[in-house]
Amino acid sequence: MHHEVAVRQTLGVTESSDIKQRTLGAGAYGRIGLHFYDAGVLGLTNRLVWGCSSRAILEWYQANITDNHLDVGVGTGYFLDRVAFSTASPRLGLMDLNGNSLTHTARRLIRYSPEMYRADVLAPIAVPIDNFDSIGLNYLLHCLPGPMESKAVAFDSLRPLLRPGGTLFGGTVLRHGVNVPIHSRGLMRLYNSMGLFGNDRDSLSGLQSALEARFEDVRIETHRCVALFRARAAA
Ligand SMILES: C[S@@+](CC[C@H](N)C(=O)[O-])C[C@H]1O[C@@H](n2cnc3c(N)ncnc32)[C@H](O)[C@@H]1O
Repeated sequence: MHHEVAVRQTLGVTESSDIKQRTLGAGAYGRIGLHFYDAGVLGLTNRLVWGCSSRAILEWYQANITDNHLDVGVGTGYFLDRVAFSTASPRLGLMDLNGNSLTHTARRLIRYSPEMYRADVLAPIAVPIDNFDSIGLNYLLHCLPGPMESKAVAFDSLRPLLRPGGTLFGGTVLRHGVNVPIHSRGLMRLYNSMGLFGNDRDSLSGLQSALEARFEDVRIETHRCVALFRARAAA
């Protein structure tokens, strides 16, 4: 009960003008699905199928997150719940197209009184928001439809929210230019046909070019078919 009240008080959900269910992954996170996500996707699939442990992703978060952070495509908030901020009261923004994900994650992280923004990253963010020092988008890009040039619209939407010199980081499952284990290919194909993933054209070079066209100091590490990336906004 206490949590319910607190979530509503920090809610202030900001609707961007044209929220549409036009992306692939956003519809998949119903209340029940969210409960399976941590154990299934983060506990097993990351390591056994995509070849990048959740521990490696958490270390990437730890290396790049700041105390003034916006997380986009929050899912269940698994990494945000485990990462250590360097202050007890960081400014934490949560952004997602899916209201269930936002509410679930905000409840989980209520100790930080998060700001919540319901928005589609494939459209310009229509409301004024103070800049963040870091923006995380983990496992969002591979859910977005289309070729990398279309997904990169998300970088264009988010760049104005990042302060000069700030860091954008995350991870994404790629299909080309990385080592996709044979046993993972079928699942990736299935997810693409089900509309859970939209990464059948995503390549390492495409990701690199999309980041380099918009940011500085681009760094990408691959763990089997997962690319962990980070980039800095021009100062
Ligand atoms: C696979 S989950 C990633 C969860 C989390 N970041 C993690 O690493 O565990 C993808 C998230 O992106 C959200 N999402 C999908 N398309 C979106 C869009 N166009 N704009 C904002 N969020 C979106 C989904 O609702 C979901 O919460």
